Amino acid sequence: MVPQIDLCKDGPRCSRIVHGLWRLADWNKSEAEVQELILGCLERGITTFDHADIYGDYTCESLFGRALVDSGTDRSQIQVVTKCGIKLVSRNRPGHAIKCYDTTAAHIVASAENSLKNLRVDYIDLLLIHRPDPLMDPAQVNEAFVQLKDAGKVRHFGVSNFLPFQFEMLASKLDVPLVTNQIEYSVMHLDAHSDGSLDLCQRLALRPMAWSPMGGGRLFHEDSDRARRLRDILGRIGRRLGGASMDQVALAWLLAHPARLVPVLGTGRLSRIHKAVEALELTLPREEWFEIWCASTGRDVP
Ligand SMILES: NC(=O)c1ccc[n+]([C@@H]2O[C@H](COP(=O)([O-])OP(=O)(O)OC[C@H]3O[C@@H](n4cnc5c(N)ncnc54)[C@H](OP(=O)(O)O)[C@@H]3O)[C@@H](O)[C@H]2O)c1
Repeated sequence: MVPQIDLCKDGPRCSRIVHGLWRLADWNKSEAEVQELILGCLERGITTFDHADIYGDYTCESLFGRALVDSGTDRSQIQVVTKCGIKLVSRNRPGHAIKCYDTTAAHIVASAENSLKNLRVDYIDLLLIHRPDPLMDPAQVNEAFVQLKDAGKVRHFGVSNFLPFQFEMLASKLDVPLVTNQIEYSVMHLDAHSDGSLDLCQRLALRPMAWSPMGGGRLFHEDSDRARRLRDILGRIGRRLGGASMDQVALAWLLAHPARLVPVLGTGRLSRIHKAVEALELTLPREEWFEIWCASTGRDVP
């Protein structure tokens, strides 16, 4: 069973593993199957669901919201994370002429209100600015965050894909705390080790959320030296650990980091979600952790 954790002191509670709905529209699931997925996550203790306004060309939040309500799930037993700040050219948003970022107060508030409607909830647990916007005016973001919080529409705020200096600048100008940074992190993507993201979160005692924890699936099918080296070592370590699968070892590697990252799983299959939950029990010894790190970088530690 997946335990509940705090993203930071006074931050939102969420499950130790989060389920991400980016690919929901691609799964071609019936509403009954989406309900089954939601209930299957809840049975295993995964109570936190990650969205963005733009997922599935602006359709995933509604697909999920409908299934959530029809599944009879108690709203207070789940946490909903969503994001804003990217504008896509889409037939669902005829007013958007080019893909761009928008972190004006008006856009953030309108996006959050749309998400509330689509997700069919009366508050969002955690709203993230999806990507750093080169034209971001922190005063505008603050105005939106304070307005949404005062109205009871959003309980907590954070960012995604921010570098440490971008995180610190925004945090220094806000009247509400930033409770997390959702970043890409996996055996296939190690930038957070060297760009300061993990160090900042550890300094501030915030748990980062890790998107694409399986490298977006590239770990399993990519035809590259890196992916091949990783598949080989993950398989060998899995056998050493008594028969753990490659995805379980990859997740145990991520979970072992002292920044205590919260993985956002992207699989649509309950069987794989179940294996991920089992991986919480795996302990990866330090030497095995480094074997995987070396297979990913393609070199020994200096
Ligand atoms: N903040 C951001 O900018 C950002 C960006 C991207 C994603 N996200 C969030 O992170 C979540 C996860 O991202 P993701 O979907 O890229 O995660 P992921 O878990 O790294 O990748 C999921 C993909 O890998 C496949 N997969 C997983 N386990 C597998 C296995 N054992 N063998 C073969 N294939 C496997 C899945 O296929 P099956 O469905 O068939 O299992 C799916 O296509 C998203 O849903 C979203 O919520 C955030």
